[in-house]
Amino acid sequence: MCGIFGYSGKETIVSSVILSGLKLLEYRGYDSWGIAVTSKGKTTIKKKPGKINLAEDPKLTGSTGIGHTRWATHGGVNKINAHPHTDCSGDIIVVHNGIIENYRELASKFLRKHSFVSKTDTEVVAHLIEQELSKSKDSKRAVLKTFQKLKGLNAIIVFFPKSNELYAIKNSSPLIFGTDKKKKSFYLSSDVIAFPKDVEKIYFLDDETLLSFGKNSYSLNSSSGKELKLALTAFSQDVRGREMGAYSHYMEKEIHEQPKILSEFVATKEKEIRNLAQKIDKAFGSYLIGCGTAFYACLAGSYLFSTIAKRHINPAIGSEFSYLVDFLKKESLVIPLSQSGETIDIISSIKHAKEKKAKIYALTNVYGSTLYRQADYQLLLSAGPEQAVVSTKAFSTKLAALLLTAYTLRGEFETGKKLVLESVEEIKKILTSKQNKQIAKKLSKKSHVYVLGRGPSYPIALETALKLKESSYVHAEGFAGGELKHGVMALIETGTPVLVLNPEDETYQDTLSSAYEVKARGAYVIGISSKNNSIFDEFINVKDTKEATLISYAVVGQLLGYFTALAKGVNPDRPRNLAKSVTVK
Ligand code: G6P
Repeated sequence: MCGIFGYSGKETIVSSVILSGLKLLEYRGYDSWGIAVTSKGKTTIKKKPGKINLAEDPKLTGSTGIGHTRWATHGGVNKINAHPHTDCSGDIIVVHNGIIENYRELASKFLRKHSFVSKTDTEVVAHLIEQELSKSKDSKRAVLKTFQKLKGLNAIIVFFPKSNELYAIKNSSPLIFGTDKKKKSFYLSSDVIAFPKDVEKIYFLDDETLLSFGKNSYSLNSSSGKELKLALTAFSQDVRGREMGAYSHYMEKEIHEQPKILSEFVATKEKEIRNLAQKIDKAFGSYLIGCGTAFYACLAGSYLFSTIAKRHINPAIGSEFSYLVDFLKKESLVIPLSQSGETIDIISSIKHAKEKKAKIYALTNVYGSTLYRQADYQLLLSAGPEQAVVSTKAFSTKLAALLLTAYTLRGEFETGKKLVLESVEEIKKILTSKQNKQIAKKLSKKSHVYVLGRGPSYPIALETALKLKESSYVHAEGFAGGELKHGVMALIETGTPVLVLNPEDETYQDTLSSAYEVKARGAYVIGISSKNNSIFDEFINVKDTKEATLISYAVVGQLLGYFTALAKGVNPDRPRNLAKSVTVK
């Protein structure tokens, strides 16, 4: 979950380079941060709990340094446990993303004589390297040997300040190398988003290979130490998500970007959509898998494929999928949906699926992500970098992709396209309405909110509830309308807000009946529909655009989440305890 960053190259204000990179990685974890830089022969380690404040930049000039932004796993949130961590001498400095599953074992087996200062798993890395160096002075060998002892999915950057060398190695957790046109500056980062604008060439590290670099050169070695060729690829940064511009939060910006992104998606992805539809058509069983918001897109997809294409597609939660792989065959198609392409439950699921020889068709937003590289086929969402922890524009793009694919399977790509574009027009109107803000103000004063939907609207009810929960901490529960009498009804009291998703499809009447039932128990009913009804205490008018109505509804849910967070004084971009890229189990 954490973000790691490294720099080596021409002399610069190295602390600023690292802190700017870390700021862009902060979505990965933001309970504490730290940097280590060498400036004029002196090494400074600065670390602090809390979010990164660029005003605290010590502005140190130098040519090498590393940094870390933390999402705590082992050890509480405090200065001592913040990275970087060092060995006993302070000459080996480490930042780490992942979990070292056997760190206790390693400490008691090899490091009894070392003194530990933190409660982290990471610190063993620095001490293990120190131990290896006591046997042989070869730092490359020491890093490799150490990494080979670690169990778990990890990425580390090791900094030797005396020689100004950096080493990077990983297993599953992402790590990317970037350099400028003239190869004068070298960077390492958990995500390409953090690379400065001068980075023009990148390289995605493979597992268990060691990248070493100093001021003027770099090299790559296999786990056995053999020299490998490092093939750089061209990189052009999509900076759409990097600057907040005139918006107050990334979440707001990303919600507002949706009309443009969705229009571009339908205009440019026909070939990929047709390809995906063809693969589904030929597959013997297809599975949609995702986590959190992405799972709700999978669930919505299963309804869309059923109603539009008359195809059964199995949706599964990423973390549950490894218990379902017994059904997979080499003819099966697994379609993982993941904004980041790094979510650990997705990566380990596809590992299981690949062992069964199933084919993987990834829908991800991040080019070069682990999922992107491990999949047999890819459909890039191209929604631009998502910076807010809660997913918005990647979700609506996934819905559009699945809707278009379902229509393509029916031989009607153009119909799907038309519907998505109609919903885009509706979203533009929704974005300018003041009503969501007013309703959110009311929701922010409540302890519980319920969201009711049936059929394809059910996943959107779940997603709306999730948006409220994660961005504003209001307890919200989404449920299928038919389940009302099976439990939820017991919780309805006078004034309990119930959001009712009521599109004019086959669910219309039954959903309305549920609205009557909660109203009879005193609920405050907020209807989201194209048709007003006297039963609604509030009516959010959303035009029906057949199956694409789901996308418009999702945007209403996002806005309600966003404005409820603001009304509660919570930063919607950085919900407590969460991180955007969930790379640990
Ligand atoms: C985290 C994020 C969610 C996201 C989920 C799956 O929980 O906070 O917004 O939906 O991970 O992430 P992915 O990158 O796989 O879509």
